[in-house]
Amino acid sequence: MSKLLVIGSINLDLVFSVDQFVSAGETIHSHKMETFMGGKGLNQAIALSRATPNVFLAANTGQSDAALKSTIHNLGVDSTYVQTVTEPTGMAFIQVNAQGQNCIVLNSGANASFTTERFVEVLSHFEPGDTLVLQNEINGLAELIGLAKAQGLKVAFNPSPFTSAILDLPLSLIDTLIVNEVEGEGLSGSSDPEVILSTLATRYPSSQIILTLGEHGVKAMVKGQRVVVEALKVKAVDTTAAGDTFLGYYLGSLAEGFSVEAALKTAVIASGITVTRPGASSSIPTLAEVRAYCDTHSV
Ligand code: RIB
Repeated sequence: MSKLLVIGSINLDLVFSVDQFVSAGETIHSHKMETFMGGKGLNQAIALSRATPNVFLAANTGQSDAALKSTIHNLGVDSTYVQTVTEPTGMAFIQVNAQGQNCIVLNSGANASFTTERFVEVLSHFEPGDTLVLQNEINGLAELIGLAKAQGLKVAFNPSPFTSAILDLPLSLIDTLIVNEVEGEGLSGSSDPEVILSTLATRYPSSQIILTLGEHGVKAMVKGQRVVVEALKVKAVDTTAAGDTFLGYYLGSLAEGFSVEAALKTAVIASGITVTRPGASSSIPTLAEVRAYCDTHSV
């Protein structure tokens, strides 16, 4: 069976619950502050591993967080390629408002200390047909995409968080591009979902283009075929990691042999459950919880 490798971030998420996001020059009190394990790399690896086996994470932690390697292993993700480096573990300062929306400030720390040698070493354990999953929270992405494609790996990319540097990446090499409205607008120049989808599908004709639209569901263009799936109707408590859950369950379900439409539906249900819970990696549902939702809602 082919393998799925995430090379990505681990963050310690400090989550502040607030009524409204703080404004410039303002100081506010939070209702509570909680600490969670997060980072888009870790969250996506956990969501993938809930949907399919053979999931690996290559990531960095600071020395004081070396124990995370076994924690991650115990969550079902192969953490052989999680390393301790001299920089501190990445951190995310997250405000969650009364509507469950978030805004995030990152400190990359260890996530920005990847080297070419490290990429080559990790990739040497993978084979043509395996899939590399990437986000925009580590350094060296352009080189990494080139190395993986030269080795015959498929590459799935979630350009999150969006920065203008993404426009300089070799995106035509990407097999699966998963974006939300913000990333879609950054890549296409339009905020209209239909324009985003058609622009990206025309620009990258051999890629799967998946556009997530929060409460408006998902639109996808795969091999010239358009697929639309509606969102779950849920009350959002915290949207953190919803996109990560979606990506993990989508790619994981495809790896399990689901059709694109069935994989999208599974991913929408999983991410819909995630937004009803606080936190990042801890809010990702198990496959049993996703199946139970399907059974009780006749999906
Ligand atoms: O996608 C959610 C994640 O974004 C959080 O866990 C935080 O660490 C940031 O990377």
